[in-house]
Amino acid sequence: MSDTRVSTADLIDSSRRHTFHASTHLRDFAQGDAPGRIITGGKGISIVDRDGREMIDAFAGLYCVNIGYGRTEIADAIYAQAKELAYYHTYVGHSNEPLIALSERIAKLAGNGLNRVYYGLSGSDANETQIKLVRYYHNVTGRPQKKKIISRHRGYHGSSIAAGSLTGLPAFHQHFDLPIDGVLHTEAPYYYRRPRGEMSEREFSAHCAAELEAMIQREGPETVGAFIGEPVLGTGGIIPPPEGYWEAIQTVLERYDILLISDEVVSGFGRLGSDFGFQHYGIKPDLVTIAKGLTSAYQPLSGVIVGERVWQALEDGTGEFGPIGHGWTYSGHPLGAAAAMANLDIIERENLVGNAAETGAYFNAAMQRTFGEHPLVGDVRGEGLMAALEFAPQKGAHVPFDPALKVGPRIAAAALEENLIARAMPNGDILGFAPPLVIDRDEVDEVIGRAKRAIDRVTDELTRSGDLKG
Ligand SMILES: Cc1ncc(COP(=O)(O)O)c(C=O)c1O
Repeated sequence: MSDTRVSTADLIDSSRRHTFHASTHLRDFAQGDAPGRIITGGKGISIVDRDGREMIDAFAGLYCVNIGYGRTEIADAIYAQAKELAYYHTYVGHSNEPLIALSERIAKLAGNGLNRVYYGLSGSDANETQIKLVRYYHNVTGRPQKKKIISRHRGYHGSSIAAGSLTGLPAFHQHFDLPIDGVLHTEAPYYYRRPRGEMSEREFSAHCAAELEAMIQREGPETVGAFIGEPVLGTGGIIPPPEGYWEAIQTVLERYDILLISDEVVSGFGRLGSDFGFQHYGIKPDLVTIAKGLTSAYQPLSGVIVGERVWQALEDGTGEFGPIGHGWTYSGHPLGAAAAMANLDIIERENLVGNAAETGAYFNAAMQRTFGEHPLVGDVRGEGLMAALEFAPQKGAHVPFDPALKVGPRIAAAALEENLIARAMPNGDILGFAPPLVIDRDEVDEVIGRAKRAIDRVTDELTRSGDLKG
């Protein structure tokens, strides 16, 4: 609730002195050189700040508010559950009713033998669980040296010690002594910046699979336990896989009996126009990571969906060695489960997965039409309701701008002046879009119109400064 007796400036000043903000230039913020903003509300695809400024949030928070803002139905579900039972743990077989319903519902949506759900609170902690499951699985099946996990450059899997190691972005490793041992990164499926020029998408996919296989051979297949990937690379640049990529990767993994983890923190629950990204691309994962869209961020809740092969080892392992030593106080929290059930009700009732497919196709076509030939835009890409524009100094040359020009952040700032939030992705001059799944065609037109005005403005600046070669 907003306290109108205190000014926004005073509140932000307090925030500068006492709040340690995530992913923030801490000195600039503390010294007042970086802006602060207090968000007080939202409705549909828009949020409003404490000064009454309304902005279209074309990134759905951190691609998580899938049902859009201001859905009081979820608040009601959380309230009702909190009045009845706000908390009890899920250790040694305890449960709560929304959790039982939710687990059954997730298993049905996932299909493919993905039948058991373990719960946490964030994507990072869910991927910590994944790493522990990979170790447990190979230990109890008699292959204790098969522990290494291969991730990808530009992958994003969280920012804790182990999940942050799976992440393949330098900013998340620097000065934290990451990655930890046993985590390796292979080629990103980044066709636009392919290392050698003349390759079809399929040839590039085969190249990525060959790089993966070479890494497995170098390390020794008996030491490689799992591979983790997002169906569409997200934070690393919103990069859909090139044609044939997942098929080629899976062939290699099967050859060496390596578990496959599909990190669906972003793609789960509809964003690509399918319930899960693995269904969208025909991936057959052993383990699936979920978070964000599970509750549309109305409550923190994450999960690991466990397939038959790993589950069997978990049952056999605990049969031999006793209860599994893994669990958190808040695993399976009833308020998260209640929020997730209400969220999934809305997704189903309003057919938001179908909308992500249909409006997503409209969105991506409009992006191509508007920006395909734009002088500042090197690549337009997307899938479902995820899209990116990558900016380049020279059309067709596939080379980046000098990072010192900060082209991506400048465009995101110009978009904000248009009251449009689109995300400057952390690696490269890439503007990301991932709006709430409730977005309609008129709103898509508005997003693109505002983005165009912002991009045109920065194009003029770069042309005048001679940094855009055309
Ligand atoms: C694919 C993916 N995995 C894991 C995470 C980590 O989730 P969290 O920030 O909730 O820890 C994210 C966050 O953006 C993500 O995009």
